[in-house]
Amino acid sequence: MRELADGTTEIGVGLISVGWMGQLHSRAYANLKYAYPEIGIRPRLVRAADPAPERADEAVRVLGYERASADYRDVLDDPEVDVVSICAPNFLHAEIGIAAARAGKHFWIEKPVGRGEDETREVAEAAGAAGVVSSIGFNYRHAPAIEHLRELIAEGRLGRITNVRGRMFADYSADPNGALSWRFVRGLAGSGVLGDLMGHLVDLVQYTLGPIAEVTALTSTVYAERPELPMGTGTHFAVIENGVMKPVENEDYAAMLVRLSGEAVAAEAVGTLEASRVAVGPRASYGIEVYGTEGSAFWDFERMNELHLSGGRGAEHQGYARVMASPGMGDFARFQPGAGTSMGYDDLKVVEARKFLEAVVGRAAANSNIQDALSAAQVVSAAERSAALRDWQSSARVPGTTAAIRAPHADTL
Ligand SMILES: NC(=O)c1ccc[n+]([C@@H]2O[C@H](COP(=O)([O-])OP(=O)(O)OC[C@H]3O[C@@H](n4cnc5c(N)ncnc54)[C@H](O)[C@@H]3O)[C@@H](O)[C@H]2O)c1
Repeated sequence: MRELADGTTEIGVGLISVGWMGQLHSRAYANLKYAYPEIGIRPRLVRAADPAPERADEAVRVLGYERASADYRDVLDDPEVDVVSICAPNFLHAEIGIAAARAGKHFWIEKPVGRGEDETREVAEAAGAAGVVSSIGFNYRHAPAIEHLRELIAEGRLGRITNVRGRMFADYSADPNGALSWRFVRGLAGSGVLGDLMGHLVDLVQYTLGPIAEVTALTSTVYAERPELPMGTGTHFAVIENGVMKPVENEDYAAMLVRLSGEAVAAEAVGTLEASRVAVGPRASYGIEVYGTEGSAFWDFERMNELHLSGGRGAEHQGYARVMASPGMGDFARFQPGAGTSMGYDDLKVVEARKFLEAVVGRAAANSNIQDALSAAQVVSAAERSAALRDWQSSARVPGTTAAIRAPHADTL
């Protein structure tokens, strides 16, 4: 890091992995100066690494890095790199996160940090020992409507919170020929939709309501095989006809019952959280509904710039009001001048870059950090253990009217 003549702090940025998230982190650094012209921090894109040659090329040609190579160690060894974005597939997070901390590089790492609680803890310990700043890719936190909801809850405007429903329903693998990317291979990803999407939801719940104390869960895998996608090509949205089929090794769907703890919630506050990567209909329906003794609210990422708020008990007008994200909520005003003109997903990463780099230069830390990632990983790993137990109570089978319900294809079976 160095002070420039105009008083701004230049921060050398390294990027590890130039996939979807690596490209997005890079655009976020580049856009920082437009959203926050007075911030006094100038990210300089120094070095990127990706073993896929066309991705390393793209880092220089399109994203504007000064140099790129195949090996991530080149990024960590580069003395001009002060901070590093770790956007690798999950199986590399622990190895790279620990190496970054030992190299004294502050890091912004994508979720989930590693393949489960143990790997996340190793990264947390390394970051703690090295005293480096960490930020996590929990981008949904920064939606202005979510920041507003969090404030309403903290002010007690919904009363004591009694229960929460949340869902992360995506369709990125709804097609049976949806590609078997690294996300479906246990050794490369760890869990499936639990780590990929449920971790985001757990963080949203914990960010707005407080800690999840207990979990019980179930999981299911809808498609047992998918066509293979070589690492470093395509995206996990790809559909491959006539590909080489390989087994899916982790879950497509997960559901959890949770108990909450913390000051904002009632003693018996509970929740139901679901995640799917094979939903047909919802595209990226990531949302939470929060119920309290004085009111309720719901938000869905597909309509990111809206929050629905109920009237209070006995209010003159019953039902939900649609509240639009507007200047005054979170960082909305940095992107749009007035309500109704929407912020987008990429903007959330610009906010995340701002929080990360401000923490790096020692300003008030508004960033998520590795302890938040560990907390989410603990919940997800607890859900995995619970699902493996399959502690079900069977219900008696009696010949009621439901016995007459037949499978749609029963005649042909
Ligand atoms: N915050 C979010 O909303 C969000 C969204 C998508 C992905 N993610 C997370 O971001 C991470 C990356 O996901 P993605 O969708 O960008 O993946 P991707 O498949 O698009 O890109 C992964 C990249 O890693 C590279 N890579 C493979 N081996 C490598 C190695 N040894 N060293 C360096 N790079 C290597 C690949 O070549 C590829 O370019 C994952 O942890 C994922 O969970 C977060």
